[in-house]
Amino acid sequence: MRGNFNLMQLSSKRSVRSMDHFAEIEEYFDGDPGMMQAIGPRGHQRTVSNRMGDFNAILDFPPAPKLGPMGKLIKSKANESELRGEQLFWGKAQCSSCHSGPAFVDDYMHDLQVERFYIGRPEGPIKTFPLRGIKDSPPYLHDGRCPTLHDAVEFFNLVLELQLNKQEKEDLVAYMLCL
Ligand code: HEC
Repeated sequence: MRGNFNLMQLSSKRSVRSMDHFAEIEEYFDGDPGMMQAIGPRGHQRTVSNRMGDFNAILDFPPAPKLGPMGKLIKSKANESELRGEQLFWGKAQCSSCHSGPAFVDDYMHDLQVERFYIGRPEGPIKTFPLRGIKDSPPYLHDGRCPTLHDAVEFFNLVLELQLNKQEKEDLVAYMLCL
């Protein structure tokens, strides 16, 4: 829910287009027969979902005291590793091609072609997720397959064929902890 107040495209496949729609979907899941046994049935009520939509629309990102107004690290506040991580993020590691702007997201879907690494059904395109406040919301990726930020860095190291060394991976994690 980080930064919902100004993110336009919601859910992993971008199928949800507004806060009200988002709240309606949540209501629908509450009405799911599987969930119903645990929490009881719920009729869909537009007034309720509109209020939930309003609530979602005020959820901001957590503070990031090391970032300046342009979303770059303030040099006097960041340590060496964090600054190297920022350089990698915007350079060699190419993270910024998809994670940029105030929320570190591009609002596009990308096909990461993960089926290159296993035998089975391709996952297809998936929406980039914002990295502002990322330290607060493990596990990572749409299905939580990466328990830590180190795992997420290793995931992109493989997917993007970056050949990052151990120090570079640590620096990227240190940087993401500032976002
Ligand atoms: C080609 C576009 C692209 C590039 C380049 C890219 N990402 Fe991502 N990122 C994505 C997409 C798409 C997802 C969602 C993938 C999923 O959930 O299966 C994602 C998700 C993530 C997540 C998890 C977010 C969450 O809320 O769970 C992290 C962390 C992340 N990226 C870090 C990085 C880092 C670090 C780099 C650079 C090494 C990077 N990304 C490069 C597109 C990209």
